[in-house]
Amino acid sequence: MKRVKHSCTYYNVMESLEEWVLPQIKHMTFTGIWRVTLMLSNYKDSVYLSTGEPDFDTPPNVIKAAEDAMKNGKTHYVDPSGLKELREEISKKLKRDNSIEASPDQVIVPVGAEEALATVFQAFVSVGDKVTVFTPAYSLYLDLIQMRGARLSAVNLIDEGDRFRVDLEKLKESITGSKLIILNNPSNPTGYVMNDEEIRAIVDLAVEHGTIIVSDEIYEKMNYSGKRLLSPASIAPENTITINGFSKAYAMTGWRIGYLAAPKEVMEALKIVHHTNVISASSISQYAALEALRGPQDSVKKMVSEYARRMELLYGGLKRLPNVRVAKPEGAIYAFPDFSFYGKDDDEFSVRLARATHVATVPGSTFGEAGRGHLRFTFAASPESIRTALSRIEEFLSSKSDAY
Ligand SMILES: Cc1ncc(COP(=O)(O)O)c(C=O)c1O
Repeated sequence: MKRVKHSCTYYNVMESLEEWVLPQIKHMTFTGIWRVTLMLSNYKDSVYLSTGEPDFDTPPNVIKAAEDAMKNGKTHYVDPSGLKELREEISKKLKRDNSIEASPDQVIVPVGAEEALATVFQAFVSVGDKVTVFTPAYSLYLDLIQMRGARLSAVNLIDEGDRFRVDLEKLKESITGSKLIILNNPSNPTGYVMNDEEIRAIVDLAVEHGTIIVSDEIYEKMNYSGKRLLSPASIAPENTITINGFSKAYAMTGWRIGYLAAPKEVMEALKIVHHTNVISASSISQYAALEALRGPQDSVKKMVSEYARRMELLYGGLKRLPNVRVAKPEGAIYAFPDFSFYGKDDDEFSVRLARATHVATVPGSTFGEAGRGHLRFTFAASPESIRTALSRIEEFLSSKSDAY
């Protein structure tokens, strides 16, 4: 900042616009999820096991519903909370699949689960507030905490090599004074599925401490564990905000439609934040989402059984890699192997691996300190890509050089 004199008055003048960027934003780095992906975009033989992007197309009946909506002039602003028919359908789905009682008035349709999370953070989290997260965690939670100038209270999942486990003792210490606790079941990036006992213990502690539970259930359909998925809102509806979306279950990442369901008393606040930020989610995408829920569900089943097959393929291959430990993914679309034998600096290792093999992965520390030494692989890629990636990585690890 420099001071300049204009006639008799001194003014503060900045030397660069960057000076005005909020300190909490200045300290953020662009998510590690995209770093290696962008680095490899110039190579023809690149294999991307980095972004959580289903490689299936959106089901044709959903695309047709969007076409019809456009042709029939459904191209205007809609109710900011979301189309009434869609909220009604979401309310029925929550009851049917998750035993959650939420009337259509307790539902908002945001621009993806991502906007749902951002809305919750804007409504509840301020500078200095404490937010409890199980780590390794989806990096957006960590980014939102940083953006709000809040404090992360991290509860590390215990990595037992071939499985993860919730550290309930650590949670007891960490939850005190937390405004929110974020649950993501099944989990990105670990693929872990929490069991009933763990969910009940977490919910009990949250209720006891007056902490709001934010339950991100976007991977609910991708559950290969045989465990029942217990939604916290089905046992503590007064304390829980449930978040879900269409991106993963219906291969609709580009349509940007999610939903949240919350207790009545906070709906007004959430609606105001959502409306202030975006007015509403795209009308056309909402008609598509309505068809996704109302129409046949066979494409979801097909995708999920294909993911299960690909998970086995990726898991089997990772398990065979020398000096790599990996837990079998129980849900979601990720494996999270431990490569720390090859160096603790997973950032550096993922770049070295990408340069040598043209395989894009995500460094584990993107998901918090607890992820250090790991790499995240998605199996939402074609079996051919998974096989190619595994054979290149195997060659890379067995050759002492950096070339494959
Ligand atoms: C755990 C989790 N929550 C939310 C999202 C964002 O989903 P959406 O595309 O609905 O914004 C993702 C995307 O990868 C995710 O992994």
